[in-house]
Amino acid sequence: MTTLSPHQTLEITPFEGSPLGAEVRGLDLSRPLADEDFKRIHRAHLDHHVVVFRDQRITPEQHISFSRRFGPLQIHVLHQFQLTGHPEILIVSNIMEDGKPIGLGDAGHFWHSDLSYKETPSLGSLLHAQELPAEGGDTLFANMHLAWDTLPQALREAVEGRSAEHTYLAKYAELQKRSPWRPNLSAEQIAQVKPVVHPIVRTHPETGRKALFVSEHFTTRVIGLPEDESRDLLQALFEHSVRDEHLYRHAWREHDLVFWDNRSLMHLAAGTPDHQRRKMYRTTIEGDTPF
Ligand code: SIN
Repeated sequence: MTTLSPHQTLEITPFEGSPLGAEVRGLDLSRPLADEDFKRIHRAHLDHHVVVFRDQRITPEQHISFSRRFGPLQIHVLHQFQLTGHPEILIVSNIMEDGKPIGLGDAGHFWHSDLSYKETPSLGSLLHAQELPAEGGDTLFANMHLAWDTLPQALREAVEGRSAEHTYLAKYAELQKRSPWRPNLSAEQIAQVKPVVHPIVRTHPETGRKALFVSEHFTTRVIGLPEDESRDLLQALFEHSVRDEHLYRHAWREHDLVFWDNRSLMHLAAGTPDHQRRKMYRTTIEGDTPF
């Protein structure tokens, strides 16, 4: 799409000493975005994998329309937690109203890449802070390119050419037992999340960089290996992926909009104390079939 909007004086600053992430200042996403600015943001997203836009007082419509510049949006299977009138937005929140959760309170409880359980997993997600707790509520990101680049040789050989299964339901029953946020799924919802198989090492379709693509939350087994070998291999990959030197921890500020690349990263919600309220809006952009 070509726009003739005036460009803004945005500054992109990589996070010092961090294996990923950059901050964008001087950009107001409630204004039309010039193509030139869009291109810089796109480049920063590919280079840094997490882009933090500070102080974005945007409406759900503006959040959706900015997200759509990067591709079509995916609708989360838990339609119970869609924002009314905006099915593209998933509410991530621990808030209860009239005894009922208003959003998915335990999203991100285990390390994962969004929607890796789909044939076409997500390109990236945009999470916008609506209400933040006074303590807790951070989000951690792991650089899966670095995880691949630093993988010990024996593990590299063990995963060479192999694929793994990803299943939305992998931890569903476990999460359901310990929290009020997981509704029973209908037959239709279950049919939407059939297990899929993806390569363990994927190639980023835009940069050509390789990344590990398995997660604690959704990856259940390595195809073609006996159960115990598969479990041990996945465990070794998970432990390596989240070594401290691969991580960035995002401490949220009011009105932050954080845009991450699900093809390059995994993420984890560090947790919010029960007595604190946290509400976020998330859009999820569709990506390609991993190769
Ligand atoms: C998610 O996994 O998308 C949610 C992350 C968060 O709430 O910090």
